[in-house]
Amino acid sequence: MKKIITGVKSTGSSMHLGNLMGAVLPFGRTAVGNDAAIFIADLHSLTSVKDGKTLREQTLEVAIEYLAIYGVDTPITIFRQSDIRGITELMWILTNVTPYSLMNRAHSFKDFQQKREQAIADLNYLKWKHDAFSESNFLTKEVLESIDKSIHERTIIIQKLAEDFSENLNMWVFNYPILMAADIIGYDCEAVPVGKDQIQHLEMTRDIVRAFNKTYGQEVFREPEAIIDEAVAALPGIDGRKMSKSYDNFIGIFDDEKILKKRVMSIVSGSEWVDEKKKNPDECNIYNLYRVFATPEQTVALRVKYESENIGFGYGHAKTELLSVLTEYLRPYREAREKLLQNPAFVEAKLAEWAHIMNARLEEKMGVVKEVVGVN
Ligand code: ADP
Ligand code: TRP
Repeated sequence: MKKIITGVKSTGSSMHLGNLMGAVLPFGRTAVGNDAAIFIADLHSLTSVKDGKTLREQTLEVAIEYLAIYGVDTPITIFRQSDIRGITELMWILTNVTPYSLMNRAHSFKDFQQKREQAIADLNYLKWKHDAFSESNFLTKEVLESIDKSIHERTIIIQKLAEDFSENLNMWVFNYPILMAADIIGYDCEAVPVGKDQIQHLEMTRDIVRAFNKTYGQEVFREPEAIIDEAVAALPGIDGRKMSKSYDNFIGIFDDEKILKKRVMSIVSGSEWVDEKKKNPDECNIYNLYRVFATPEQTVALRVKYESENIGFGYGHAKTELLSVLTEYLRPYREAREKLLQNPAFVEAKLAEWAHIMNARLEEKMGVVKEVVGVN
């Protein structure tokens, strides 16, 4: 039995089919026979949600979605990161052994820094260009004026961008991986299922563990492993690219029926006519989504329709079939969520129960940590 943990941020826009098939359900399967926990990383979401009410609501919404999917009797411990009081204290203690140079390497921080530096470099280039043109005699007054104007406009945009970056590049961006390390090692977790974008954070966690153990000359923390499920194929979105929030091509699991229908109906498909044979189903976005959610028999039946002529079957019909399969597939989750929404006190009670377990676990570990570092 392994101790497994993962975290999800509560930054709004609810779960989509890609998350469900690529992360949420696989985590549920990994959890079987293990000691598994999943938490809503509201402390990690603080920087992108700068409004208390919104963050609170979004955090609860995510908790409800996980409860709806795993079921209220799930053996998985579902908790809110901020309910565990000692987690930020542990983060502070870990900060003490975390080299600055390690944090400097973080992708999240480097991206921010590079964008800002790029914006400033662009601004300087424009200023130089501006000066060079003003002194030149080769261009007419009108051309010079229009260049002047566009340089002025762009200067303002870039300046604003640079300001934005310097305001938003705060210590949270820098310290993010240390809090993440605390989230994992504070409960002695060994395995962490995450997406590929989190691999570096897990490496940093291991570096922090080594630094701590070396500094204090004891094996206080264990090094966790990232579990990356390479076998999970990316679920396509409505435009055929990987389904993702950032492409706005996703089908939300808990969206209302109208939106669900709209999304399914706007899946990009071929243009063959109803009586024509369709192109290769394996290259069709509708079919590729359908086969994930339909039974093997339904999938074969749809394939036959794609390959037949003169049966009055078009892509619109295929979308309607997909919609009906999806509606059935998602029904239990959606109903469970509705029920939980009606009973927030029940959800809070469940979260409190789980928070109690995790608080006790962290407290036990913190007893050892504080003894070792000398702050008890
Ligand atoms: P998004 O791309 O929508 O921002 P995230 O990066 O938040 O999604 O992904 C959270 C988890 O869901 C990750 O573990 C990721 O591997 C999984 N996931 C996201 N989109 C897909 C997809 N289209 N197919 C399979 N898994 C996905
Ligand atoms: N950083 C993760 C993300 O962006 C969320 C997260 C926070 C996390 N703490 C964690 C994931 C601990 C795994 C373990 O998705």
